[in-house]
Amino acid sequence: MTQGNERYLVAACDTSTDMLVCALGWWAPSESGAARVELLASGDHLCRRRANVELVDTLDGVLRDAGLSMADVDGVLVGRGPGSFTGVRIGISTAKGLACGANLPLEGVSTLDASAWTAWRAGVRGLLAVAADAMRGEVYPALYRLDEAGASRLYERERVVKAALAAREWAERPDAGELQLTGDGLVRYGKLFEEAGLMGRACPRELWWPSGEGLLLAAAADAPAALPGGDPALVLPVYTRLSDAEENERRRLGLEQSEGSRVTGVADELAGRHLQFRPMGAADAEAASALEEACFSGSGHAAWTPEMFLSELGEGAAVPRTWWVAHDDGELVGIAGGMVVDRDVQVLDVAVASGRRRQGIARKLLSHVSYDAQMLGCATASLEVEADNDAAIALYERLGFSRAGVRRGYYGAGRDALVMTADLPLRLPVDAASPEPTSAAARPWPAPAPSRTDAERAEIARRQPVLAIESSCDETAVAIIDAEGNLLANQVSTQIDFHARFGGVVPEIASRKHVEVIVGVVDAALEEAAASLGLADGPLSPGELAAVGVTQGPGLVGALVVGVAFAKGFAFAAGKPLICVNHLEGHLYANLLTTPDLEPPFIFTLVSGGHTMLVHVRAWGDYEVLGETLDDAVGEAFDKVAKALGLGYPGGPVISRLAETGDPKAIDFPRALNRRGDYRFSLSGLKTAVTLYIEQETKAGRTIHLPDLAASFEAAVFDVQYKKARNALRETGAREYCIGGGVAANPHLREMMVRKLTRQGIRVTVPPRNACTDNAAMIAVVAREKFARGEFADFSVDADPNMTL
Ligand code: KG4
Ligand code: ZN
Repeated sequence: MTQGNERYLVAACDTSTDMLVCALGWWAPSESGAARVELLASGDHLCRRRANVELVDTLDGVLRDAGLSMADVDGVLVGRGPGSFTGVRIGISTAKGLACGANLPLEGVSTLDASAWTAWRAGVRGLLAVAADAMRGEVYPALYRLDEAGASRLYERERVVKAALAAREWAERPDAGELQLTGDGLVRYGKLFEEAGLMGRACPRELWWPSGEGLLLAAAADAPAALPGGDPALVLPVYTRLSDAEENERRRLGLEQSEGSRVTGVADELAGRHLQFRPMGAADAEAASALEEACFSGSGHAAWTPEMFLSELGEGAAVPRTWWVAHDDGELVGIAGGMVVDRDVQVLDVAVASGRRRQGIARKLLSHVSYDAQMLGCATASLEVEADNDAAIALYERLGFSRAGVRRGYYGAGRDALVMTADLPLRLPVDAASPEPTSAAARPWPAPAPSRTDAERAEIARRQPVLAIESSCDETAVAIIDAEGNLLANQVSTQIDFHARFGGVVPEIASRKHVEVIVGVVDAALEEAAASLGLADGPLSPGELAAVGVTQGPGLVGALVVGVAFAKGFAFAAGKPLICVNHLEGHLYANLLTTPDLEPPFIFTLVSGGHTMLVHVRAWGDYEVLGETLDDAVGEAFDKVAKALGLGYPGGPVISRLAETGDPKAIDFPRALNRRGDYRFSLSGLKTAVTLYIEQETKAGRTIHLPDLAASFEAAVFDVQYKKARNALRETGAREYCIGGGVAANPHLREMMVRKLTRQGIRVTVPPRNACTDNAAMIAVVAREKFARGEFADFSVDADPNMTL
């Protein structure tokens, strides 16, 4: 970092469009007018769908051409879109990785602004219309006035509209004759704009994409006085459009009665055997009011009546509202709600039952309310709190709220209300089960360099900490492991609550949540590692790591891409080797956390939400897959059965809890492919049998005994798993057995395998329960092995959603 210099070196990238934008520029702050920028080197080039492959190498090339390195860079700029969702996320995730890895400020810039400034730089003046491609027949339209001083926006907010509508809107303007068109939307929809008579003054085709110089100029116009940028945790994509699943949610939130009860159906009280969150429904009004009464008796806040809640949830509310409840074991334990006024969500109420405080429930409720609010276009949140309620004020401050004013006597004579406001998104909680990251409070960025004693430095060098990132599905996880296999940090931020209402993981939401939380989870892991190592000052810094590992696949491609892009930027900027890990190998290696001397040959059962496999591990890395599922994975079957019973998502934990008190022999469900020598699995027949059983019993008017059903279903699944594993052990002569994947967290499966196989002289290993469901500890174990062998990846690797063992 060159401080106090007249000029700074800035790296700029944007992969929102087919143009891979990557440039270096000098940035000279000025007290008056825009900062001066000077393009130093550019690697801008068209590259369709290969941005994640090419971005870091392009940056490397540009730096080399300029005779510079990451150590010379003072700040990072990134295009926030709008554009292709995945494209935007690749640029932002890489940029976040670069900024975190080299401890640099990061600034987000509108890609539309960058396009406008690209035209400006080429000498275009007058009225400019940008039509950026939004796919599906749509564009992101944006109007600018370009004069000698620069490009200024003639619109307030990015939006997405049908290309035909944009063409019509522009053609109908009185100044249509002056409009000069640009933007990559012209490639696909040029004919439409042509027919509207708008292409006559279109910019030359080479200007239709943003450029590195445009990005630099757009940022310079915004932040003339200083080097731009701040905390990389706070830079987020501009989407303008919801995932389809959320689009339906918005309608529900804005206009329609809460469909909350539909999400979990009639079986809410059964689903509620663990702490869950869902939108408030009419049936909650009585309980919500009682909770309020209990929470606020004696305070200045008058408790809400059931009627007030009902009117909040009623149809035709003048402004959109969002209300959430937390429930556990059929009991309401928390509520929070807010209404949307002018892009601000006013938090109306937060109440948590007295016995359930300090468990992160209020934070989670507020994160749901603020997430909905963002979906409804809010940029800020505000609330009132009694001025002497220190606990609540501290909670809100941790979420990013700050004091904005006081309402005297708001809660009655002498009882003032403190008004607090925050920018959205709120600082979302990392999983309540994980230690709370101390960085949740506003933190200085770039981070001050920690001071280390010589002994500490020697210890860190000896321990060779390897950081690993996992983002293949709906868990953002980061772990750090040392050379001896000790876990120094293990952080998981789960998104389950955000998918639960859709009955399964929504890929687009998963990708978005990963981008939102990845920096926070990495920071929390670096802090936890410093504590584990007993370092006196500051978190472990990226430069103190030995390597960076990441899950490359298999999994959801959009989710994987976020972790891979971040890891590449992070490793490159920190000057550390990159290690790619197969997620399935992670599930296998999780067994080393329990049995460090586990040695092939052995039999391994993988049972997760996406996979069901029986594997003969002949040597490390030498896998003979004996059999896989022909249809559903085991975890998937648990999820589908739970869904059929209205038990919510994910199904595994609920079913295993129900099964505790059930009789596994109560119902005789079929065991498929139960022949010797056949190692294939099939679960769809069982799933159908369970569904038929539910239908039959319901039709006959009998109540289903859920514990018996759950126990019998488990027995049918696990019987087959056991027999095939036993047969494989006999056939191969292996004397060791281990298991992995989310379903391996099931206590009955674990207990059965240990009991039955141990009796036959087999050594059985089961990973720690929290290392069965997706986590980064298992990825770190593999990464450490690969680090020891020097198996490093190029920066041109991409996510591979279809990897196998
Ligand atoms: O390994 P994982 O976290 O994600 C994938 O890689 O797929 O596995 C998730 C799956 C889900 O289907 C979930 O229902 C299941 O693991 N699961 C369980 C239990 N806990 C999670 N299944 C049965 N019993 C459990 N206790
Ligand atoms: Zn998994």
